[in-house]
Amino acid sequence: MQEKWKEIDECIRQWIKEAGTRILATFDKKLTIETKSHRNDLVTNVDREVEQFFIEKIRKTFPGHHVLGEEGFGDEIATLQGIVWIIDPIDGTMNFIHQKRNFAISIGVFENGVGVLGYVYDVVHDELYAARKGEGAFLNDQPLARLEPVSVSEAIISLNATWITENKRIDPNVLAPLVKDARGTRSYGSAALEMAYVAAGRLDAYITMRLSPWDFAGGLVLVQEVGGIVTNLYGEPLNLLTKNSVFVSKPGLHEEILQKYIHR
Ligand code: IPD
Ligand code: CA
Ligand code: CA
Repeated sequence: MQEKWKEIDECIRQWIKEAGTRILATFDKKLTIETKSHRNDLVTNVDREVEQFFIEKIRKTFPGHHVLGEEGFGDEIATLQGIVWIIDPIDGTMNFIHQKRNFAISIGVFENGVGVLGYVYDVVHDELYAARKGEGAFLNDQPLARLEPVSVSEAIISLNATWITENKRIDPNVLAPLVKDARGTRSYGSAALEMAYVAAGRLDAYITMRLSPWDFAGGLVLVQEVGGIVTNLYGEPLNLLTKNSVFVSKPGLHEEILQKYIHR
């Protein structure tokens, strides 16, 4: 890996830990909680402060880079040309507010649209999932194994119950048979963590109908680096500039689910 990427990687590791410490320090303070697009789309002062923390660091250290951040303190990004950071300061804000766990910081760094670095940091458990393109993925300093194929009958699939009840995005009858046939289902409420769990082999697949680029950017690099497959629900590549359905899976399982269960 080129020196420039090693430098970026070192900065991210340092900043992400510092941001984690700042988040932990807010646990005994009163949060300011606001809603965004709807009553369950939450944001706190901590989400905003953590995003500002990263953006200040990036702008100062790497002035030529572009940043897309969920809370809007970054740049207006219309193309993926150059080096683009995609940041979610707290993924799983609802968990952060209600549970003080099951949330993560997510960062993906892309060069001309290609994922080079990916990080998901589970602050409470001090678990840093990190990947560098071509060099594998790690949980703290332990290398993550390459993902092996698995079948639906042996798979634990992460899926929110929303998608098998009446909803705006998918006929509930599409995914219900998959839920019945899988060994088990889970839902953790943080897309970034759920993708990191697939990369670490704790989950076999993760399916959701609508995520923004900052929800999946870090996890995308992680999962691909261990041989997992990341597409939209219909097997097409994700667009890093728009919302997408997201289907993350071990190999083998991805094909089986697409063939047997998914139809538009
Ligand atoms: C949310 C989480 C959640 C997913 C939502 C996202 P946020 O991100 O990733 O798991 O189902 O669609 O918006 O708002 O907590 O950063
Ligand atoms: Ca998010
Ligand atoms: Ca967020």
